[in-house]
Amino acid sequence: MNFTIDRTSKKPIYKQIADYIEKGIANGALSPNHPLPSERSLAEKLNVNRSTIVAAYDELQSIGVVERKRGSGTHISTDIWGISHKRMPNWGRYVEDGSFLPNLPLVQKLRTETQKNKLINLASGELAPDLLPVEQFHSILANQPFNGHLGYDHPQGNLELRETIAKHVQHYKNISVSPDSILITSGAQQALHLIVQCLLKPGDTVAIENPSYSYSLPIFQSAGLRTLLLPVDKDGIDPEEIVALQKKHRIRMLFLNPDHQNPTGTKMSLNRRKRILELSSEYGIPIIEDDPYSLTSFDGEIGPNLKSMDYNGNVVYISSLSKIVASGLRIGWIIGPQKVIERLADAKQQVDFGHSVFPQWVANEFIGSDQFDKHIVKLRNDLKERRDLMISTLIKLTNDKSNFIVPEGGIHFWYKLIEEIDEYKLLDLAIKEGVAFVPGRIFGTEKGYVRFTYGRGESELIKEGISRFVRALNNLGR
Ligand SMILES: Cc1ncc(COP(=O)(O)O)c(C=O)c1O
Repeated sequence: MNFTIDRTSKKPIYKQIADYIEKGIANGALSPNHPLPSERSLAEKLNVNRSTIVAAYDELQSIGVVERKRGSGTHISTDIWGISHKRMPNWGRYVEDGSFLPNLPLVQKLRTETQKNKLINLASGELAPDLLPVEQFHSILANQPFNGHLGYDHPQGNLELRETIAKHVQHYKNISVSPDSILITSGAQQALHLIVQCLLKPGDTVAIENPSYSYSLPIFQSAGLRTLLLPVDKDGIDPEEIVALQKKHRIRMLFLNPDHQNPTGTKMSLNRRKRILELSSEYGIPIIEDDPYSLTSFDGEIGPNLKSMDYNGNVVYISSLSKIVASGLRIGWIIGPQKVIERLADAKQQVDFGHSVFPQWVANEFIGSDQFDKHIVKLRNDLKERRDLMISTLIKLTNDKSNFIVPEGGIHFWYKLIEEIDEYKLLDLAIKEGVAFVPGRIFGTEKGYVRFTYGRGESELIKEGISRFVRALNNLGR
């Protein structure tokens, strides 16, 4: 190989070597199936570290130019030679360079571990299979003929479903809205995404709760937003923190999850809600009220939602059926000023031409029926029982009575570890024991918390899951 390294170049040495070989292949100087020198001999010849040659060969392999087989070294790939000289794009580079960020590594790990292993899953933020209204859905599918049309529906969502949602939010949440100001989305997740993409721009500053679900979402970083953190205590965020932040920064938007917050389970006090609305009007800061959980309130007392007290149009309200009916339906909605809804619906049309007609139809049949109310009453009772079971099992096995706020609704339980413990190491041990939870640091800056989703566990599995967790905790202490 007649090649000299340019040590003054800004191009890394491994890249110079890879480019040289790639060029040799392209101009025919190196032919297919031709063995390339071994890593060791090429490293000696070029007077570089062996790892530099490994990196160069890895690069060539990632673009499909060479093949590497254990024992028989590195060969020029036969695939790139054909009638049309096919070349494989460097997918690795594309995958890394896109502007939309991947999930946090821990989220990816939890996804693989819970799918791959038969773990007791106290991590996924959704309802356990036995809490889903499966029979009611079977009955709808068996008895009601689908009479919708099968073309693209309105990008804002099916009108009948929007009418039903308008009645639903009026009845349960005292929110008055016309169907024109509702947009159906693929869960609350897409609602957040559309808002971030369409109403904000790179460099904007938003304030979010700490800890919070939003903190775990890379969509804020992908959109180039700066996030300021508002600490959550047992009554939600302290509105005066907004005042303090606003003095130093211009907050463009405030993201709040006031009811049975994910992950802390806390419910914001009424006084704080009122004060936040006052501040929103005073400073002109729009509020995104993310409310997937308020209907699960164990005592049936809902909110009051910020949107129900919003007389000036400062609040854009998001909710979904994921935590009260079924996450797999992917039905969520946004309620906001018509101008905003139209802008977001236009974006939604670009993204997916509007939501799929079938889940909209089934959702409409279910939430428009008297079955829905019965389901919610039962769900609240079941969730309360599971909360109690989880907490009593934890207290029994750890002797710890004080390290948590007892959630009065929702599906999550935020548990503070007594000792200084690394939650990530604890998760590894817990997975070995056969249970998954979410380390708290994924939701914010505070260390030493874990999030359990009691809503996700079937009763007998909650007990077993918590004893496995406590075993992992004890093993870590050893
Ligand atoms: C506060 C909050 N917002 C939004 C979502 C997204 O839920 P979905 O898209 O299933 O409605 C979640 C899910 O965990 C959540 O906890």
